Amino acid sequence: MGVFDKLLKDGESLFKNEIALDFSFIPKLIPYRENEQFRIAGAIRPLFNSRNGQNIIIVGKQGIGKTVACRHVLQELEEKTDEIVPIYVNCWQNNTSFKIILSICEQVEFKFTQNKRTDELFTIAAKILNKKAAVFVFDEIDKAEDFDFLYTLLEDIYRKTIILITNHPEFITTMDSRIRSRLVPEVIDFKPYAKEELKGILKQRIEYAFFDDVIEQDAFNMIVEKAFELKDVRQGLFMLKEAGRAAENRASRRIEVKDAENAVAKMGNTEVKEEANGEEETKRIMDAIKNNSGEKIGDIFKQYQGKGGLLNYKAFNRKIKKLADERYIKTELISGGSDGRTTIIKKGEKKLTEF
Ligand SMILES: Nc1ncnc2c1ncn2[C@@H]1O[C@H](COP(=O)(O)OP(=O)(O)OP(=O)(O)O)[C@@H](O)[C@H]1O
Ligand SMILES: [Mg+2]
Repeated sequence: MGVFDKLLKDGESLFKNEIALDFSFIPKLIPYRENEQFRIAGAIRPLFNSRNGQNIIIVGKQGIGKTVACRHVLQELEEKTDEIVPIYVNCWQNNTSFKIILSICEQVEFKFTQNKRTDELFTIAAKILNKKAAVFVFDEIDKAEDFDFLYTLLEDIYRKTIILITNHPEFITTMDSRIRSRLVPEVIDFKPYAKEELKGILKQRIEYAFFDDVIEQDAFNMIVEKAFELKDVRQGLFMLKEAGRAAENRASRRIEVKDAENAVAKMGNTEVKEEANGEEETKRIMDAIKNNSGEKIGDIFKQYQGKGGLLNYKAFNRKIKKLADERYIKTELISGGSDGRTTIIKKGEKKLTEF
């Protein structure tokens, strides 16, 4: 190969579909979680026969497919029937009963929510949902500030399955006993992936994201090793994207070991990064958004890192959610072509200078 063959031409990219490496992308298949998805489906099944469903609590560490497995089951449910309404709420972004009912109203396409109280909105939603059955997924449930909404749903919706997702199962003890005694959930414990499974998942994403044979085997293995050490698929996806960009930056047609090394070095010691100085990091995030409003979350993270940001993606994501709650920024889920979705971040209602 001639020396110029290695260089990328203008506008040429190693990425076939970079969105496939975004954290909010939902792939068509969720391998290695078949059993878990089957159990979730089993809890929903009675709803098909006009009976009440089983409730579930999903527990497990970060980045191991809890959210994506649930969203996938909801997607399949939506394709299968119109008689069971799927509702998904992230309780970090919607952390009060009021915000949660607003999100539910939006999902059942009830638009006249202005000037209505929480209880009025629940009555309206119950009326709509009780014509059918419903599956509710409340993700990051431990971040909800109150659980009144759960009590109301348990009491007022006749046929339902409620699924709570958390990586802090101990929060359950903080819930009111009136709720616990009505919920009686089955617990599904998501275990971390084995190395071969992690490898399979990342390989699948590579096929979505990159053109054929772009990544060298050793480079890929290095990323798999690090992702396995961190026990986190999300970090693996992040490293793949970083390595791809590092290769592009040096105009290489292939992702080589040095690119993977670059990406791995960015992960560092994640425990320490989680504890980085909060305010300083928030300022850096706001700075990154100021100049890049409307960009994808992954790109903003990259900008943030470029400014010396210390947080890992998970902690960064948490801050983003908090900033969105406080309306400094807006987040918007967009469709990323035929096979996935991602989040776009924009400036919010409050001025960045208030920061
Ligand atoms: N079995 C799988 N197949 C394909 N992609 C997966 C699989 N498991 C995880 N992923 C991907 O890994 C990333 C992290 O997964 P997910 O968001 O579901 O983690 P989580 O368990 O909900 O983590 P957290 O507790 O931090 O919210 C996502 O981009 C997801 O698409
Ligand atoms: Mg999750």
